[in-house]
Amino acid sequence: MNFPKSRLSRLRKNKEIRALIQENTVGVNDLITPIFVTEGLNKKVAIKSMPNYFCFSIDLLLKEIFECTSLGLNCFLLFAKIPESLKDNSGLEACNPKGLMQRSIKKIKSVFPNIILMSDVALDPYSIFGQDGIVKDNQIDNDITIDVLSEMALSHVDSGVDFVAPSDMMDGRVKSIRTILEKNKYFKTGIMSYSAKYASSFYGPFRDALDSSPTSNMDKRSYQINPSNSKIAMLEAKQDILEGADIIMIKPGMPYLDILNMISKEYNVPVAVYQVSGEYSMIYSAHIKGWLNLDDVIIESCIAFKRAGATLISTYFSKKIAKLISEKKFYL
Ligand code: PBG
Repeated sequence: MNFPKSRLSRLRKNKEIRALIQENTVGVNDLITPIFVTEGLNKKVAIKSMPNYFCFSIDLLLKEIFECTSLGLNCFLLFAKIPESLKDNSGLEACNPKGLMQRSIKKIKSVFPNIILMSDVALDPYSIFGQDGIVKDNQIDNDITIDVLSEMALSHVDSGVDFVAPSDMMDGRVKSIRTILEKNKYFKTGIMSYSAKYASSFYGPFRDALDSSPTSNMDKRSYQINPSNSKIAMLEAKQDILEGADIIMIKPGMPYLDILNMISKEYNVPVAVYQVSGEYSMIYSAHIKGWLNLDDVIIESCIAFKRAGATLISTYFSKKIAKLISEKKFYL
């Protein structure tokens, strides 16, 4: 209407002007790096459906973390691959003070006291059914599960973790975890709750990594959110905040930017988004085929998370992103 007085492309004329007015960018402090640990020594196990991503034994994981910290990455989200022989339907191993998760936390925090270490709290890596909770008559028993999850969370915190990250989607688990932490005087331990976690098919490669796929007779739709719905995600977030969550998370990332945007506008807590394994694998495999430019797509996806309202981004691309940040590639 105001043309030629207003030419909106004036502010896109060159890189410098675009940088001057760019609204969103990404810094290393915005990133959470997921890490996978397995039993053994000197092990670096490739994950078949996550090209160039690995599950490490504790000794090599320490080296990996060191490499990440030298790139400026300082926040890690730990997952453990539990041997088949230790899985059951009780969550016993999940609470074992000498379990793989607990030993890893102790070791990592003793070597890197200043990193922020977060741990996944859910039963699926420990479950013979690949379910996040305890199964009774083909259903998850919510209330028994949250008691076990709280014990599990406490054992992680006893081992030295800075944040627990319940990813199970049981009702009332944040309240239950917050209560047990308060009771044990862990007043300053954080809870990053997976509040809006959808029943997504984009988690497939992660389940390959931990060998934690649900058994065929039961999926996770009775507790993770229906991908068709958005209002319920608001309620989930609200409840978790009221129950004591410090950071809330939306997951997956790119297919759920609307949810991320809605929640980050509504609530005044830091909001994390998880660019999940399936998103990683789609982008990475297209790169291997030569169909997409890896760096450019990673940058664009991260900027999109920021634009939608994310404070934090959990992503398997974090090392790559840290390098791109240091090369100032995030100005488009
Ligand atoms: C376990 C958990 C899952 C993911 C994070 N924590 C899988 C699931 O719920 O089935 C997925 C992460 C990813 O796909 O990258 N509760």
